[in-house]
Amino acid sequence: GKGTYPYYMLKEIDEQPAVMRNLIQQYSDAQSRLTVEEDILKAVTECDRIYIVACGTSWHAGWIGKKLLEKYVNIPTEVHLSSEFGYNMPLLAKKPFFIFLSQSGETADSRQVLVKLNEMKLPSLVITNAKGSTLSREATYTMLLHAGPEIAVASTKAYTAQIAVLAILAKVCGETQAATKVQAQTFDLVHELGLVATAMESLIDEKDQVEKLAEDYLKETRNAFYIGRGQDYYVSMEAALKLKEISYIQAEGFAAGELKHGTIALIEEGTPVISMITDTATHAHTRGNIKEVESRGAHTCVMAMEGFERPQDQLILPKVHEDLTPLISVIPAQLLAYFATLQRGYDVDKPRNLAKSVTVE
Ligand code: M6R
Repeated sequence: GKGTYPYYMLKEIDEQPAVMRNLIQQYSDAQSRLTVEEDILKAVTECDRIYIVACGTSWHAGWIGKKLLEKYVNIPTEVHLSSEFGYNMPLLAKKPFFIFLSQSGETADSRQVLVKLNEMKLPSLVITNAKGSTLSREATYTMLLHAGPEIAVASTKAYTAQIAVLAILAKVCGETQAATKVQAQTFDLVHELGLVATAMESLIDEKDQVEKLAEDYLKETRNAFYIGRGQDYYVSMEAALKLKEISYIQAEGFAAGELKHGTIALIEEGTPVISMITDTATHAHTRGNIKEVESRGAHTCVMAMEGFERPQDQLILPKVHEDLTPLISVIPAQLLAYFATLQRGYDVDKPRNLAKSVTVE
């Protein structure tokens, strides 16, 4: 049950630090070293291209996974929507490997792809929260999210758990590859995920601050934009999905640099533009893009990671390893969606027109 919580979504947001710590335990061996099943490790490291296939929030987690896999395992990785992939399949590499991300393990759009791949005798891994689910039974391999049941329609802890599991997979596989060995070994993921858990806790403790931001920026608005670059762009897409699916605010996540190629026309006096800044390569560019929308009347809200913050920013994100910043920047976005929904008077856990698992194509 949801205990003393008013909604499952809030409970599930709060559980994320514990999920991070549990994942470290679940994927550690007796020597406290992260491990992945030998067969999975072999399948990943022997392929020449990885295809991540998923829907919705899981698809958004896939983008973070792509960055981790390319950096630590040195294998080109593509991210695809299940509903597109099956009927519009790209030309596949010679030795493809498929990673399905699915909290429920029951998503019909993903299953139709898996059925086709099985007919083609191609290997796959499903990363899922549901042991014994359809996708888990039909995929070649399974890795579990160990996040505990996720009841709220809006996915929260499954997203962060998927990213953490993909990070574990990337690190462990990377350690066996000549090209990435040193880099993967120096990535002390057990330590870094521990820091992430602590940083998540401190953000969750500052809920009141996020509640005020929701009131300032989202309570009355018709639309809202999230912007960022790199990882922050991927999290912006997830942040916008969270907001639209439960608060019904028309929201979109954009690559900050792409605004001036069309979208900036939508900015009016008072349009909320929430930006995320955690990325070394692009933080200065994003600042420039914030200025551009501000001068056109946008009501800007900046969430910046320690090291990139400025005195006028609305929220400071505690610093974590640069490859894991999505695990932190998504937390205020989840809370903003939660509070905006409450303030607008809607049911947080059961939004209209949606079901927890989507079992039709
Ligand atoms: O169970 P799955 O991860 O396969 O579900 C995929 C999407 O339907 C799901 O993430 C959906 O987008 C969520 N309601 C988003 O919060």
